[in-house]
Amino acid sequence: MSRLIIEGLHKLDGEAVIHGAKNSVLPILAATILAGGTSEIANCPRLSDVRATSAILRYLGCSVTAQDEVVTVDPSGLCRSDIPDDLMREMRSSIVFLGAIAARMGEAHLSFPGGCELGPRPINLHLAALRRLGLVIEEERGRLNCHIRGQRLKGTTITLEQPSVGATENILLASATAEGVTVIVNAAREPEIVDLCCYLNACGARITGAGEGTITIEGVDRLGGCRHQVLPDRIETVTYMAAAAATGGRVVLSRTNPALIASVLPAFEEAGCHTDWSEASRLLTLEAPERLSRVTSVLTMPYPGFPTDAQAPVMAMTCVAQGTSVFIETIFDNRYRHVDELSRLGARIKVEGRVAVVEGVPRLSGAQVECTDLRGGAALVIAALAADGETEITALQHLDRGYDGLEEGLSNLGASIRREE
Ligand code: EPU
Repeated sequence: MSRLIIEGLHKLDGEAVIHGAKNSVLPILAATILAGGTSEIANCPRLSDVRATSAILRYLGCSVTAQDEVVTVDPSGLCRSDIPDDLMREMRSSIVFLGAIAARMGEAHLSFPGGCELGPRPINLHLAALRRLGLVIEEERGRLNCHIRGQRLKGTTITLEQPSVGATENILLASATAEGVTVIVNAAREPEIVDLCCYLNACGARITGAGEGTITIEGVDRLGGCRHQVLPDRIETVTYMAAAAATGGRVVLSRTNPALIASVLPAFEEAGCHTDWSEASRLLTLEAPERLSRVTSVLTMPYPGFPTDAQAPVMAMTCVAQGTSVFIETIFDNRYRHVDELSRLGARIKVEGRVAVVEGVPRLSGAQVECTDLRGGAALVIAALAADGETEITALQHLDRGYDGLEEGLSNLGASIRREE
């Protein structure tokens, strides 16, 4: 069992490099099976979720090679249309393969991804949308058996009840090579959706409106391969900023873009941090005061609102702020599981349904804690950096799903952090 040992109260100061976005690279890797040729995906982070996605691609018959930060996928050997249960269970987002496999192979057989640490995570919107495109889906004992009615999926207008990121991705993958025009109304507007559309368009797809509420996909007969650079990870960006802020420190981030976190920057400003973006050097700097101020209220919303994935890291920083901060989580039912663990470190947080009220304390103290999920784990790391004494964090498999080289990055900023196996 691995654990992180963090000795807190070291002020962070220095530079960190932001990696490619996890939530961009996963659907893009799934999309590579639609391409007729090889795709080179650059700025690819080294994450267990990327390894799990690569394992699925290899199982399907693709060749996948990784060198430095470039993953190359050659889908010419694609020969299977199923994903075994154990590979599906590795990662909930593997459901995004459904639209791609069905479009490419005419059928798809995979298991229901089931619930996860954030709550039930239904896929009803994915299935309803794919059915509208002409996919026949039979649900049988936890398996989804799907085949296309006719030769190809058929474009149509799909109105999403809510702007689901995963459902929007599945529709994009299924409709890029469908017959006719597909229109997604109330589509997710996340930057990772825009990145997926950039990749697909570079392969020859005809998609317009990405990043807006309505996306139009004109189906093409076939796609080719391309080289694509994955966009920066906005949640990793926020995580480093919150870590520096919680220690009263300073961080300079490269290979990121503040436009991706425009809804989060006001929370840092309200907490008393100074942020600066230099267009010339393309560096984002955060400088924190000795003691943070409270953040009056954080309401998580679909993009361009405050991202649910940034809720836990920002909450960790407010645990040591002066005053009371309020969080309202509107995206997931069960996204406060880190609260009990933060409380072990001395945080004062009350949760009532979707609302969490954080009463800042002058100092946290080190303890033994366990990651409850990916972003909850990041919150524990941030809190531990601001805690007096030693903190031991276990269940690191959650962190490893989404952060590339976190210990190394934080050590370079002056944190006392080490991993023990
Ligand atoms: N929902 C439904 N039915 C569906 C699909 C979604 O009810 O068919 C609900 C979900 O239960 C949830 C809400 O809609 O309450 C939003 O879900 P969405 O589909 O937008 O999220 P997702 O695609 O499952 C992605 C990210 C998450 C991120 C959310 C919201 C990936 C791989 N995952 O999940 O990232 O929190 O969008 O932005 O892209 C993370 O990185 O830690 C993470 C959990």
